[in-house]
Amino acid sequence: MSASRHAQTIQLDPSDVGLFHDPAEWEDMVAWHDRVATLRREHRVVRIDDPDYEPYLALLRHADIFEVERNHDVWHNTTRVTLAPDSFYEQFLGMGMPEPKSLVHLDGHDHRVHRQVANDWFKPAATQRWQARIDDIADEFVQRMRDLDGSCDFAVDIAQPYTLRVIMEIYGVPREDEPLMLELTQGVFGGSDPEFAGEGEDMLMSAAASVFKFIQYFNEVTEDRRAAPRDDLASIIANGEVEGHLIDDEHRLWYYIIVATAGHDTTSFALAGGLQALLENPEQLDVLRQQPELVVNAAEECIRWTSPVRHMMRYAAVDAEVAGHVMPAGSRVLLCYPSANRDDAAFERAMEFDITRPDVANLLSFGLGPHFCLGAHFARREIRTMLGKLAAQLDTIELAGTPESSRAHFVSGTKHLPISYRFR
Ligand code: HEM
Repeated sequence: MSASRHAQTIQLDPSDVGLFHDPAEWEDMVAWHDRVATLRREHRVVRIDDPDYEPYLALLRHADIFEVERNHDVWHNTTRVTLAPDSFYEQFLGMGMPEPKSLVHLDGHDHRVHRQVANDWFKPAATQRWQARIDDIADEFVQRMRDLDGSCDFAVDIAQPYTLRVIMEIYGVPREDEPLMLELTQGVFGGSDPEFAGEGEDMLMSAAASVFKFIQYFNEVTEDRRAAPRDDLASIIANGEVEGHLIDDEHRLWYYIIVATAGHDTTSFALAGGLQALLENPEQLDVLRQQPELVVNAAEECIRWTSPVRHMMRYAAVDAEVAGHVMPAGSRVLLCYPSANRDDAAFERAMEFDITRPDVANLLSFGLGPHFCLGAHFARREIRTMLGKLAAQLDTIELAGTPESSRAHFVSGTKHLPISYRFR
């Protein structure tokens, strides 16, 4: 790729070059947001030059990211929609791994026809029929909190298994397989965090090992659901048709993987990080207790504030212009969602956590346009259901230690949230 021909991009100070792709930079989100806020105010885009990566422009402002997302005929996703060192892709395919073909990797007609296979399952009315089940599962985890007797790691003990259980029930994955799904997802998304990667494994090995295990697992699921379809998402994917034919093997495999991986770590980080924000701003928790009807807005604010998907990449299909820069075809930009979600041009007092904010609908945490998060309505329901129950039933709740963020540059957030609490 050749870089933008326009003069206004800034080249980052060497200490900031890893700001978007170095997993370690995402461990301290307060520092990260401070540094990026300065960049966002002073520059519309920054150019990243790192010897391990082809250069890319990082878009930091809400309006510019909005524009690229909206203009999908010009800006394509491609198989390299998530940022990794250039050598990573060649090695990944060299290890015999299948070329990524999940929804996020597809463009245009191919994307449209594949998305249609599961789209109806994720519409607002369709998610409504799961509300009673989500309530039951949330009650189960509130009970677990009661059983833990006054203290727990909310991220590990509650947010993670709760969000995993909801998506796995919708999927039709039995409870005994949940730990495997969690391990494989963390292998795909969290491979750079030593806590989630296996001993001595690097990011590539961890992702490849997870994909191999997913292939084995979902081949069996396909056989099972073709023989005896059920009312679950696995049956929809196993029997899904595109233009009159069953989805081909590669697309089907990646369909399973994206739906199995995209739905729980993301939602878990939004829930745990959202509760962290409420505990760090206790007056906000008081507001929620006094006005429980604010829970829908509060959940949205948690999703804006945490923005657990840290980026998507887009590639110019033709010569294009963005943020005042003329970009030749083939150029790539990084859509930095956490930065867009703290942009003062889109949110009043953007750096403040405020569950009453009237402008929260501007959030870009779920992306926009044809790739808008398929599971957004489930994620919203899960978060507001749990927050509503906690606000109603807890007498006291406070931080009981220092929260920790995961070390990953694509999907990350609060991985440990020690709390102490008392129920009414
Ligand atoms: C708070 C939780 C979540 C966040 C922040 C989130 C964020 C995102 C983002 C940013 C995208 C890309 C959008 C774009 O490129 O414009 C995406 C796509 C996607 N998400 Fe989510 N997501 C969440 C929960 C879920 C859940 C619960 C599911 C359920 C399975 C899910 C499934 C998907 C799928 C399948 C795609 C690909 C859609 C496509 O490319 O057409 N996500 N999500």
